[in-house]
Amino acid sequence: MSLMDVENSRNEAVVNQTCEELQPLLKVTQLTKLYQAEKGCQEIDFELWPGEVLGIVGESGSGKSTLLRVLSGREVPDSGDVQYQIDTNHSVSLFGLSESERRRLLRTEWGVVHQHPMDGLRSRVSAGGNIGERLMAVGNRHYGDIRAQAIDWLGQVEIPLDRIDDMPITFSGGMQQRLQIARNLVTHPKLVFMDEPTGGLDVSVQARLLDLIRNLVVDLGLSVVIVTHDLAVARLLAHRLIVMKESRIVETGLTDQVLDDPQHPYTQLLVSSVLQG
Ligand SMILES: Nc1ncnc2c1ncn2[C@@H]1O[C@H](COP(=O)(O)OP(=O)(O)O)[C@@H](O)[C@H]1O
Ligand SMILES: [Mg+2]
Repeated sequence: MSLMDVENSRNEAVVNQTCEELQPLLKVTQLTKLYQAEKGCQEIDFELWPGEVLGIVGESGSGKSTLLRVLSGREVPDSGDVQYQIDTNHSVSLFGLSESERRRLLRTEWGVVHQHPMDGLRSRVSAGGNIGERLMAVGNRHYGDIRAQAIDWLGQVEIPLDRIDDMPITFSGGMQQRLQIARNLVTHPKLVFMDEPTGGLDVSVQARLLDLIRNLVVDLGLSVVIVTHDLAVARLLAHRLIVMKESRIVETGLTDQVLDDPQHPYTQLLVSSVLQG
C-alpha cells in the first residue's frame, strides 16, 4: 500500500463516517460578523461532522479568528446561525441560548485552545488546579479523583509530575500550551476549537506539540475546528479545509484535494506559499 493509498483510505473513512452519522454536529448558515467592509467573516456556510477535524486557512486578516470566536459562541454574529447537535434527538441554535447557557457549553461540552496559552489558563492557579478546575466545572467534587485525573493528564501532555503545584507562568511556552490542552481535554469535550495552537512556539517545539495534538484527537475521537495560517499544520491535522479570503470562504474540500489541486487562484497562491507567513 503506497502512502497515497493510506491517504485515500483515510479520506474514504471520513466520508463513510459522515454518511452514516445522519446529523452534523454543527450546521453553520450564512454566519456574518463584520467590523468593517470585508473585515471579519460573512455569509459563512458549512457543516462539521462528528469526529471531523476541519481546518480554516487563509492569510492573516482574512477573518479566521473572527469566525472561530463566533462559531464558539464567544462573539455574537450580526446575522446567521449555528445549530449544535446537543444529543441524538436535539439541536440548539447557539444564539437562541442565553449567554450563560453558551458559557456553560464552553465549560462542559466544548473546549477552546487559544494561540497564547495564558489566555486559556489561570495564572494564579497551579498546573494541577488549572486541570482540576475544569473537572469541578462539570460537577466533580471528589478531591482525590480530581488530583488523580490531573496527574494522569499531566502525564498525557508530557509535563513532569513534580511541576503539578507550580504556577503555569513559570512554565515554558510549549509546556503552557500542553497544559492548556490538558485543561481543555480532561472533561472529554465533544468539540474543540483551536486558534493557531502552535503559532507562538519554536519550530522544534511545534513539531512535538502537533504530534501530541494529532494523537489526542485520534484517541479521543474529537471533533475539531482548527484555525491556522500554516498549511503544514492543516495538512497534518485536518480532514477537510475551508479557505478564507477577505472575510469569505473561497474554497472548501478534502485537505489533500485543496492542497494538491487548488481550484481558486487565491488558494493556488497560498499553496505556492506566496501569501504565507
Ligand atoms: N474586535 C475587532 N474590532 C475591530 N476589527 C477587528 C476585530 N477583530 C478583528 N478585526 C479585524 O477583522 C479582520 C479579520 O481579523 P481576524 O479574524 O483576526 O483575522 P485572522 O485571524 O484571519 O488573521 C482584520 O482586518 C481585523 O483587523
Ligand atoms: Mg487569527
